[in-house]
Amino acid sequence: MTRLALVTGGTRGIGEAISRRLQAEGRKVIASYHGNDAAAQALQSATGIVVMKFDVASFAECEAAVKRIHAEYGPIEILVNNAGITRDATISKQTREMWAEVIDTNLGSCFNMCKLVFDDMRAAKFGRIVNIGSINGQAGQYGQVNYAAAKSGIHGFTKALAQEGARFGITVNAIAPGYVDTDMVRAVPPDVLQKIIARIPMGRLGRADDIARGVAFVTADDADFITGSTISINGGQHMY
Ligand code: CAA
Repeated sequence: MTRLALVTGGTRGIGEAISRRLQAEGRKVIASYHGNDAAAQALQSATGIVVMKFDVASFAECEAAVKRIHAEYGPIEILVNNAGITRDATISKQTREMWAEVIDTNLGSCFNMCKLVFDDMRAAKFGRIVNIGSINGQAGQYGQVNYAAAKSGIHGFTKALAQEGARFGITVNAIAPGYVDTDMVRAVPPDVLQKIIARIPMGRLGRADDIARGVAFVTADDADFITGSTISINGGQHMY
């Protein structure tokens, strides 16, 4: 069924794979982005996926974007909160700004976007929300108190909202990716990354489409009994 899907951070990396896969499933996809205009334009030209630039950390920008989408395309039926950043440093070197940036972008964005689409989903008695967590929110990671806290927060947020959405036909699930071959992971120092890969039983980094597959699964129209779940997709690195 053609349903309207919004994927935040949907023009690169894991988000791009999610946008493309949902489109392949017959969804009308809008992909938001914040920084990289060239990547967004390239995706739009290649696929016809609509791209929109706004900062998911800003409630006001999210509100304006959701209003625009509603006016042009109708209510959002599938929301994938994928946008995220890292500002890695041990706590001694981490600043208050690095903490706030990651919490606002990775976790605050889930509040912003879910709040703005939830009433429409309630009225429609249908909704699919997927929040992209992380293995590092489940297990922690040296140098990531900000990121691990935000991602761990996403897992709790998901379970709470799933309870609120259930009687309205709204499912809310989290996907917890492991280390996936994207720009974000390529920024990890090579020696550190080699040690991480050595601990992945499957012996490789994830592919963005490994994660998109999970998103397609939980956003299917007939996935209506799957809610409050966290699906780990990490090559066996952390069995939780
Ligand atoms: N456990 C224990 N000790 C560790 C460690 C670990 N995992 N990693 C580093 N250390 C130790 C080092 O061995 C070193 O000790 P010595 O001086 O005694 O040798 C000390 O900590 C300092 O290490 P660094 O030189 O690396 O310190 P730094 O300040 O230059 O950098 C860091 C610290 C920024 C955390 C860097 O190690 C780093 O970037 N690590 C990778 C963090 C990571 O995995 N981020 C994930 C990004 S991808 C992502 O987040 C996506 C997702 O969802 C999976």
